[in-house]
Amino acid sequence: MSLQITLSKTQSHELDFVINAERHPDNSNYVYQWSHAEHLKALDNPDQAHYIIKLTDTNEMVGYIILDEVQNSSHSINLRRLVITKKGLGIGAKALKAIQELAFTKLNAHRLWLDVFTDNQTAYQLYKKVGFVEEGKLRESYLRNGVYASQYIMSILKSEYI
Ligand SMILES: CC(C)(COP(=O)(O)OP(=O)(O)OC[C@H]1O[C@@H](n2cnc3c(N)ncnc32)[C@H](O)[C@@H]1OP(=O)(O)O)[C@@H](O)C(=O)NCCC(=O)NCCS
Repeated sequence: MSLQITLSKTQSHELDFVINAERHPDNSNYVYQWSHAEHLKALDNPDQAHYIIKLTDTNEMVGYIILDEVQNSSHSINLRRLVITKKGLGIGAKALKAIQELAFTKLNAHRLWLDVFTDNQTAYQLYKKVGFVEEGKLRESYLRNGVYASQYIMSILKSEYI
C-alpha cells in the first residue's frame, strides 16, 4: 500500500516536532539550524511558506518543508529546507512532487531552486529523481562544524515540471 501525504501549514504548537527533527543527528549535518523564534517568525512571513508533511490516513507528522523567497520578483522560489523523519518510504519524493505542484500552480513560480551539500547523496539523488537539474557547485562555500563544505545548486523550471 502506498502512503499518501498531505502538506498543511505549520502551526506554532507543531514547532517542537520541527525543531526536534531539525536537531536530530540523522538530519542536523545536512540542514541549517533555526531557533524556535526563527521558525515562529517564518509562520507569519508572507515571503516564506512553512509546511508540516503528514500521513493523510493518520495525520501523523513525518516531516516538514520550507519555501523562501515566495514573493521573489523573478518568480524564483527557494526550497529552503526539507526533513523527513520516516525515511526510505518514498515520502520525500511525494513531498517534493507536492511542493512542485504548489510552487508552479499556486505560487506562480517560474523556477524552484535549492542548495544541497555535495556529501548528501541521498538528497541529491532524490532531487534528481524528481526533476531537479544540477546548475553548478559552490566550492567550500559553507563552514560546517569547522570544515568547509561544498554545495550543489539545483533547480527545476516551470516548463520542466510535469
Ligand atoms: C533526504 C531525505 C529528505 C529523503 O527523504 P526520504 O523520504 O527518505 O526519501 P524517499 O524514500 O522518497 O527516497 C526517494 C529517493 O531518494 C534517494 N535515496 C533514498 N535513500 C538513499 C540512499 N541511502 N542513498 C542514495 N539515494 C537514496 C533515491 O533516489 C530514492 O529513490 P528510489 O527509492 O527510487 O531509489 C531524508 O533522508 C532526510 O530528511 N534527510 C536528512 C535531511 C536532509 O538531507 N534534507 C535535505 C537537505 S537539502
